[in-house]
Amino acid sequence: MSAREIKVVKDIDALSAHAANLFVDVGRESIALNGTFDVSLAGGSTPRNLYRLLASERHRHELDWKRLSFFFGDERNVPDDSLDSNYLMASETLLAPLDLASNQVHRWRTELSSVDEVVRNYESELIEHFKRSKRGFDLVLLGLGTDAHTASLFPHTAALRETERLAVANWVEKLNDYRLTTTFPVINNALNVMFLVSGSEKAEAVFNVLEGEFRPDNYPAQMVNPMNGNLFWLLDEAAASKLKRLDST
Ligand code: 6PG
Repeated sequence: MSAREIKVVKDIDALSAHAANLFVDVGRESIALNGTFDVSLAGGSTPRNLYRLLASERHRHELDWKRLSFFFGDERNVPDDSLDSNYLMASETLLAPLDLASNQVHRWRTELSSVDEVVRNYESELIEHFKRSKRGFDLVLLGLGTDAHTASLFPHTAALRETERLAVANWVEKLNDYRLTTTFPVINNALNVMFLVSGSEKAEAVFNVLEGEFRPDNYPAQMVNPMNGNLFWLLDEAAASKLKRLDST
């Protein structure tokens, strides 16, 4: 039986420290088992501290980084040098400081001519990468929006119903733009999924997803349930403040 764990820690610093230790533990296990560690990175702002910590003197010597391959769970429909780019955030905080080989990092090539082209390119990279191993990601990092979206799987959007494609361009009405995202089949095929959620503004969404009625169209993160994988919810006290049942399930 795969683990389902909710861990509540004091604040964003404690959250990042705990996540960094878990990242290294999972990485060491993956590398020992398969010689590789395939990671899908989360975007947004919450993981920034974690990424900086992993590349810091505190952790950078704990993993054989040349064994890692980095993908992105989702991306905004922006150039990769835009301040909104998830790739730019991860590159500045984690990827560039680790001095990785270019073939270790698989970004959404948002410079291509259309979102469909970007998605086709990314999906082919995913298929190419995993066709040898027949496994999924060893670790998928996820954030949670205040509307209970995760990756770019937003409430009431078409991507929530995707069961075949690995990557799609998801039209998000409230953003009046496409978001590029991997789908639940990719996330739920991972060996480990780790949510990182911080701040009181997320407390309602955390409660709805973890203790509310099962309404995945309203609370998409409820669809994250790795079939043969571990699911870790790492929350700080503010984000967990509306939870009533804090037993680890
Ligand atoms: C993105 C993320 C998204 C994010 C949540 C939380 O592209 O923004 O993939 O799913 O994780 O919106 O964002 P914050 O960490 O900035 O609160």
